[in-house]
Amino acid sequence: MASIEQYFAPAIGDGDFDQLVTLFSEVYPNQAKWLQMFVDGLEQGWLGYAGPDEFRPRRYVVRRAGRIVVNATVRPRKVKTTRGLETIAGLCDVISHPEVRGCGYAKEVMHAVFSMVDHGEFSFSLFQTAGARGFYEKLRCKVVDNSIVNSCNMEDPTANPFWEPWVMGYAGAGELPKGEIDLLGAGY
Ligand SMILES: CC(C)(COP(=O)(O)OP(=O)(O)OC[C@H]1O[C@@H](n2cnc3c(N)ncnc32)[C@H](O)[C@@H]1OP(=O)(O)O)[C@@H](O)C(=O)NCCC(=O)NCCS
Repeated sequence: MASIEQYFAPAIGDGDFDQLVTLFSEVYPNQAKWLQMFVDGLEQGWLGYAGPDEFRPRRYVVRRAGRIVVNATVRPRKVKTTRGLETIAGLCDVISHPEVRGCGYAKEVMHAVFSMVDHGEFSFSLFQTAGARGFYEKLRCKVVDNSIVNSCNMEDPTANPFWEPWVMGYAGAGELPKGEIDLLGAGY
């Protein structure tokens, strides 16, 4: 079993910032623009987090031989659905180092994340993915084909704030909402 560490922004272990950047660049080699977005997210969204406690981002990591080999970040947020305002676990930066793929660490991290939905802390988890749809389906996640919008986007409040091919959700024993989901903010 993996030993999963949990951090709340802005806390981070000594040297972890550099390790996370290295992990990201090894998972997504030659992706300078994404890497910059990841670094910006670490600096502003994590180290510089100044929002309410309720929405404090959480990071889950697994180390092997002292190095971070798996990361997942949860960004709690309020969204508006046809059921009303709901607090959800926004999920991003799920990455596993190529050397540990298949070891089950990423799956264990996801179990830790989704257990917060199972225990009622969040009504569901929502995220986007390109190549990992099958990974999430094994974890009982479902493709979300609801219309997703960001009503705070003044230029186009009806545009989909996500950009990857698949939006997926996890609701455990509960149900994902039907109809429009308004992220009330940018995609992640
Ligand atoms: C997706 C990712 C995190 C999975 O990591 P991993 O270390 O291979 O995951 P695990 O070892 O915990 O595998 C858990 C299960 O998912 C399966 N799996 C992993 N990746 C899969 C994929 N892309 N499609 C289908 N199944 C997948 C594994 O075979 C394993 O199945 P099993 O439980 O039946 O043995 C990793 O491939 C990765 O970092 N990919 C690049 C970044 C990425 O796409 N992240 C997701 C962004 S939303």
